[in-house]
Amino acid sequence: PVIVVDFGAQYAQLIARRVREARIYSEVLPHTASVADLLARDPQAIILSGGPSSVYAEGAPALDPALLEAGVPVFGMCYGFQAMAQARGGTVARTGLREYGQTRVEVADTESTLFRGQPREQSVWMSHGDSVTEAPAGMRVTASTAGAPVAAFEDDERRLYGVQWHPEVLHSTFGQEVLEHFLYAGARLTPDWDAGSVIEEQVAQIRAQVGDKHVLCALSGGVDSSVAAALVHKAVGDQLTCVFVDHGLLREGEAEQVEEEFVASTGINLVVVDARQQFLDALAGVRDPEEKRKIIGREFIRVFEQAARDVVGHAAEDGHPVEFLVQGTLYPDVVESGGGSGTANIKSHHNVGGLPDDLQFSLVEPLRDLFKDEVRKVGLELGVPEAIVWRQPFPGPGLGIRIVGEVTADNLATLRAADAIVRHELTRAGLDRDIWQCPVVLLADIRSVGVQGDGRTYGHPVVLRPVSSEDAMTADWTRVPYDVLAHISNRITNEVEQVNRVTLDVTSKPPGTIEWE
Ligand code: XMP
Repeated sequence: PVIVVDFGAQYAQLIARRVREARIYSEVLPHTASVADLLARDPQAIILSGGPSSVYAEGAPALDPALLEAGVPVFGMCYGFQAMAQARGGTVARTGLREYGQTRVEVADTESTLFRGQPREQSVWMSHGDSVTEAPAGMRVTASTAGAPVAAFEDDERRLYGVQWHPEVLHSTFGQEVLEHFLYAGARLTPDWDAGSVIEEQVAQIRAQVGDKHVLCALSGGVDSSVAAALVHKAVGDQLTCVFVDHGLLREGEAEQVEEEFVASTGINLVVVDARQQFLDALAGVRDPEEKRKIIGREFIRVFEQAARDVVGHAAEDGHPVEFLVQGTLYPDVVESGGGSGTANIKSHHNVGGLPDDLQFSLVEPLRDLFKDEVRKVGLELGVPEAIVWRQPFPGPGLGIRIVGEVTADNLATLRAADAIVRHELTRAGLDRDIWQCPVVLLADIRSVGVQGDGRTYGHPVVLRPVSSEDAMTADWTRVPYDVLAHISNRITNEVEQVNRVTLDVTSKPPGTIEWE
């Protein structure tokens, strides 16, 4: 693999992802790993990530110069660049010339390994206080900026390279090219890694972890748990049992997709628990959003726990202990929960967890290193149905938090019908990839007067909430073309009896959250 040494900034996983985009396998190791640890992984190349702003900062992670003498190609970025310069006897100085954000860099040598065939002027993303003022002996300076006389260097003979900026971020316009030049020309690697290779590696790893023990998985119908389950199934086949809790809060056709298409295409053992009535009973009369979320979370755990006990019990009777639980944790989830810096509880998210002590499992998390788009590629490669692979993010509490008012069977049916029209029309208009997700919200507690035919109606409004986003942390409302909105509005008011008004939510996040509750 190409090893990215994480010097403590949030960029290391992004670098690994860019390397994988260049179709070369990459892993991240912490900077505390010794040179021996690193070399034990048999790296084809090493990338030193960004990190704290200064090599002089207290407790700044050090770079063992031996790493640069091991004969492995090395590429330093930002802090990694400075650490490299220092380790090889260059000068890193506090020039007082800070550069943050978009910066113009002047390439001195367009024949160099990193910059061959690229423009002399490039726009890059910088974030540094110190600068390398003198390159180490044997290193050729290949680029500079106003604040960094030595902004890039290379030593082709020892195959050592570095840039002061962050080539991994999209703001660095030739960033991916620079990285690929290092990988293909500097380290002489061949791009041959793809989703198929992730599958092979994960399958081997899951087999090694699980052995002949049995594995349980809670399928939600979303992309992550489905792909994780498909991957584990490929690795250990019938040792995996999935439990799908049908809480009745999914959208039209989604439960069927899991129960029929997914099972048909993967051959997974699936236990379906029909808990629709139980959830309706528990939610009867409840209007408060947080209370709804808590009830849905609690009932989910109850139902899943019971199903898990059954599966575990049956397996034990057959002499097969169940010791593992699959989770579709993605890399961004790992970062978010690891961040743990007292983030406010805006909404209580419900995921599987909090199982009682006598149901303790070890976790199998085959998607931990991947981003959503990579998970989708793996899913497609594994034959997970496209309708599931391309499903938009959907909250665990489902339609329960898209009904402002009481969650009843009638309200659910109304919302499901309106939502199905919206999804159908957005897909037909080719807008799926422009829209991150489009909640449809039923304002069940509100009525307004309308007229249909010759008659007065007194129905409910629905709200369309199309948003564009990168990661759901921030979002903007999507400018859906008026004619598409008009068509959606006509269809809903004609076809969904209880709804006589369609409105559009034009609030960004913040201040509005994506979901209404
Ligand atoms: P908000 O409404 O907080 O939503 O802006 C951000 C993203 O999270 C999804 N969401 C949830 N996902 N369990 C989940 O798994 C939840 O309880 C939950 N609540 C919101 C929401 O759909 C959006 O993508």
